[in-house]
Parts: sequence; structure tokens; C-alpha cells
Amino acid sequence: MTKTRVLTGITTSGTPHLGNYVGAIRPAIEASRDDTVQPYFFLADLHALIKAQDPKRVQQSRLEIAATWLALGLDTDNALFYRQSDVPEVNELCWMLNCVCAKGLMNRAHAYKAAVAANEEGGSPDPDRGISMGLFSYPVLMAADILLFNANRVPVGRDQIQHIEMARDIAGRFNHIYKGNYFTLPEAQVDERVQVLNGLDGRKMSKSYDNTIPMFCTEKKLLKLVRKIKTNSLEPGEPKDADGCTLFQIYSAFVDQAGADDMRKRYQEGIGWGEVKDIVFECLNEHLKEPRERYQALLEDPAHIESVLKQGAERARAEAAPFVERLRSVVGLGQFV
Ligand code: TRP
Repeated sequence: MTKTRVLTGITTSGTPHLGNYVGAIRPAIEASRDDTVQPYFFLADLHALIKAQDPKRVQQSRLEIAATWLALGLDTDNALFYRQSDVPEVNELCWMLNCVCAKGLMNRAHAYKAAVAANEEGGSPDPDRGISMGLFSYPVLMAADILLFNANRVPVGRDQIQHIEMARDIAGRFNHIYKGNYFTLPEAQVDERVQVLNGLDGRKMSKSYDNTIPMFCTEKKLLKLVRKIKTNSLEPGEPKDADGCTLFQIYSAFVDQAGADDMRKRYQEGIGWGEVKDIVFECLNEHLKEPRERYQALLEDPAHIESVLKQGAERARAEAAPFVERLRSVVGLGQFV
């Protein structure tokens, strides 16, 4: 049986938070245990350089993200788990794709257009001010990540759908120019059931809003952050609405349907915010306690993380190297004899 190849990248430019967990890490780890799929999960550290040019931060983020995935029980026997920068074939394919990708296609990329719009709104005489070639051609690198392994499915957030469409475009272009079916056209997988978690202030939990709850902060810090979650000013005894309540939403992401229904009932009965916060803290802490310990142990053993990632890269390169070798011949860069 040929397995469906599922591939996704995690940009290593921050510290993982509960929103990342619920929206991306948890579903990916669940998928890693499904033996009808072949997962490829990688640290998109080349992508990280576009946004983060502080070497210490990039390095720290790579370590934290790798430790997080391992602590949460990623099955690295099944999944290929590697660093993008450990697979030089990504860059080589990226160049070949750059040479078939229309510049006009990149002009239409949302991230680039948003940066140009921000410059225009800010009154800059140069619409491309502060925009690097890395940012501009970001979708080509992403296409190389995906096409290098002929991924069938790419689980992503909504904001990334356009990039998958561009990868299909670029793949089609290459196949057409070089007259062959070299690349599989990938499909974006946007899971409607996956929750988008709200942050401390009630907006989407995101590093850019500075409203996150880090996955593995200390117990004390976790309690402090849960207490900071914004509520309305209804008193204990007054009935409360669970819908639209951030505390309820976060709680629901960690309990089953019965647990959520029970909490909804207690809202109607007028539970006080202090008590809700205690319950939410207990629940989160219960979930995070064990992985938190594993996470701390992993951070103290970077050599172990390094060896896991190196093994992942070896497996990845065992596929990528012969493929790129073939593509070299296809474009006319093969050996003479
Ligand atoms: N751009 C993606 C993000 O920011 C990360 C990423 C890089 C990725 N390469 C990828 C996702 C390939 C899927 C496939 O979320």
C-alpha cells in the first residue's frame, strides 16, 4: 500500500504556545500515529531567517520547538522529523523552481502585498522598503519543501492556502516546461474542526498580539496567566454566557463534550470567574504536567535532540538526494558521462 504523504513545516521563530498546540501540533501528532499516512514534519528554519535575524533567538526557537514536539509524543519512527537546513536539496530545488516561477505570481502573494500596503499607508516613497528577497520569494522556498517529497497533503492554516496553490502552479509549470510528471500536485488540508484558540485578551492567540500562554511555562506562571484571561464583570451568582467566553473556549479545547456541557451548565448557574479560572488552571496543568517534565529533560539534553533530528534528516535525504539528482539531469545539469 502506498501511503499518503502528509507534510508540514513549523517556522522556528518563537516559543510554542497553547494556540499552536491546539491548532497545529496536536492534530499533527495524532496524524503521526496513523499508519496509513507517511508524515513529514520539519523545522522551517530557513524560513525563520526571513523574520528573525537574531541568531540566538533562531537557535533557541529551533531547540524549543523540537523539544516541544518530542515531549508531546511525536512518533519519530513513523514521522520524518528534520530541520529544513539539514537538507541542502531543499535549496537546490528551490533554485530550479525560482527559474520557472513567474515573478508576477510572487507579486500576488498576500504576505508581500500586505508589506507593500503597509509601506504605502505609512507614506514611504519606496513601496518595497524593508522587503527582502527572502520575504518576496518565500512561497518558492515553501514550494521546494513540499515538492521535494511529492507531498499529497499539506495541513496548514487558512493564511497558507495561497502558498499551496502557488506550489501547485510552480509544479505544473516545471512539469510543462520539462515535459514530464516530475511533481505531484499537493492539496492544502484545512481542518474545519481544528480550533483557533483565543488569547489572554480575547483576540486570536498569537505572538504578534502578545497574548499567548506558552506551552511549557512554569506552573506558577501558568496560574498567573490564566488569572489574567479577560472576562466580563458579572458577579458570582449571575448567569453567564459560555459562548464567546475565552475561558470557556480554552477549557473546551482540553476536555471532552461532556466536560464542556457540564461547564456550560455551571455558567448558567452563575459560577464565579475566580472559580472558573481555578478549574481551567487545574485542567491545563493536568494536561501539561507530564510533557512539561519531559520538555525540561529534553532541553537539558540537546545532544539527544540533535541526534533525533540528524536521523530524520538522513531519512529525508535518502529520498531527496536521488530525486534532485534526477532533476539535475532533467534540466541539463547532469554529469557528462
Ligand atoms: N509558511 C509556513 C507557516 O508559516 C511554514 C512552512 C514552511 C510550511 N514550509 C512549509 C508549511 C511547507 C507547510 C509546508 O506556517
